[in-house]
Amino acid sequence: MLIAQISDIHVTPDLSSLQTLERAIDWLKTFRPDALVVTGDLVDDGWRQGYRLIAECLRSLDCPVHLLPGNGDDAFLMRSELAAVGTWAAAAGPMHFRGAVNGLILCGLDVTVAGQSYGDVLPHLHWLTSALADVKTPVLLFMHQPPFKVGIESLDQVRCRNDGALLGALEAMDRQPLAIACGHVHRPLSGRLGSIPVQTCGSLCPPNPLLLDGRADLPVADAPSFLVHDVTDAGLLSHVVSIPAPRERTTD
Ligand SMILES: [Fe+2]
Repeated sequence: MLIAQISDIHVTPDLSSLQTLERAIDWLKTFRPDALVVTGDLVDDGWRQGYRLIAECLRSLDCPVHLLPGNGDDAFLMRSELAAVGTWAAAAGPMHFRGAVNGLILCGLDVTVAGQSYGDVLPHLHWLTSALADVKTPVLLFMHQPPFKVGIESLDQVRCRNDGALLGALEAMDRQPLAIACGHVHRPLSGRLGSIPVQTCGSLCPPNPLLLDGRADLPVADAPSFLVHDVTDAGLLSHVVSIPAPRERTTD
């Protein structure tokens, strides 16, 4: 199974991130993943038209699409404008989702906290535990904020809280997720929560520099990127795909 993950589009009226999304979706239309998961921060500043434009773009992809909000999203606008694209576990409240593609369970946990940039998993562990109870097939778990420190202070202040409780809940299950796949960091990186791999997806808006604590803000040339999770009988491989640059116009 090939599960594409895009994250942190942060569409604004200047439309540059929307154009990056359009190039990513064009790539995916040819690639034909089995499903696409969007892990939050679709639009900045509650711009309703931005959600409409994203919905139009995502509808052109011929596969199931699952959507989580990020801390920058307006959950009400996102639900109403993307209702024809994604489905959620409940008609109101947290925007969790649970889907399946050929036996692979795709589980999205909405850990956003209204009015805050950090996330918190604690209020949602009951839902997660029941959503994954008695699961007999592989699971990929998606969240917006990652449940660990990434070494960048400004991001660590707004990480997902109560990661220990999340680990305890996951370890109590018969089958742990193959991985937890997140956004929010605007850089692809991998780590672990206990023994469970955690991968963050790059952003479709310009990536963050590698501002590791105590280190200089050195220039980097990272491009906007997304992930393709390849789930096989042997396990999971997560590929980073950089967005192709727009074609240059020629004058002759
Ligand atoms: Fe975020």
